[in-house]
Amino acid sequence: TSGGSDAMKRRAGESAAEAVTDGDVVGLGTGSTAAHAIRRLGDRIDSGLDVRGVATSFASRELATDCGIPLLDLDEAVGPDAPGIDVAIDGADQVAVGGEESEGTGSEGTGSEGTGSEGTGSDEPAAGVGPLIKGGGAAHAREKLVDAAADRFLVVADPSKEVPVLDRSVPVEVLPAGRSAVAEAVRAAGGEPTLRRAERKDGPVVTDNGNLVLDCAFGEIGDPAALARTLSATPGVVEHGIFVGLADEVHVGTESGVRVAKR
Ligand code: A5P
Repeated sequence: TSGGSDAMKRRAGESAAEAVTDGDVVGLGTGSTAAHAIRRLGDRIDSGLDVRGVATSFASRELATDCGIPLLDLDEAVGPDAPGIDVAIDGADQVAVGGEESEGTGSEGTGSEGTGSEGTGSDEPAAGVGPLIKGGGAAHAREKLVDAAADRFLVVADPSKEVPVLDRSVPVEVLPAGRSAVAEAVRAAGGEPTLRRAERKDGPVVTDNGNLVLDCAFGEIGDPAALARTLSATPGVVEHGIFVGLADEVHVGTESGVRVAKR
């Protein structure tokens, strides 16, 4: 959706694709960075890797099919007799760095293990991975289903996505009939909602699920978990783009390599 160069996105996506192992069921994210992971997985399948994918959108399904990745529906992947999802790889519009909580769990100054980076080709300091904003491609509802169902969720990003405090507009997928009611609730919660319009069509963006998207500006989001709860509790909200407590690792492609930060 923005920012970093395609080379950085490619390094991030390919780094995460290398973390996939034989037999895995892999959640396939949406967006230009996750697309690099999907292509690399396709290459690895050509070289003998045995994996199956679960798509998060129409676009990721199409790309995965082009790349020769066998696919399962989410319903086939998750359930009592189902294989489960071993790992999901997905992009983000913003990644809070420094840990899941605003204080105390970041790597800064603690000197502790566990939130460190295993970067290659970069000497930037370690930072934990915190909450995310997703949904720039309007795919966040299915992305959240798949990313949350996975045993491990690897975020792929370039440095332009990293922020100390989330401040991007939060994409909120709404039932079409609930558009105005949800907009009112967003205003009451201190946000400014804007209906997302399509670029190459007159009218709104319609999601893969047939719903609308309100991009909701809240300024700096001091407590993402609280805002996530408020939005989730609003009738008419199908899903919002704040992902709290889901990301296990973030692979950040840089000019010269990849930094991996862990939760
Ligand atoms: C899709 O709805 C989003 O959540 C994407 O994962 C996000 O917009 C990242 O896209 P890029 O990798 O293209 O920036």
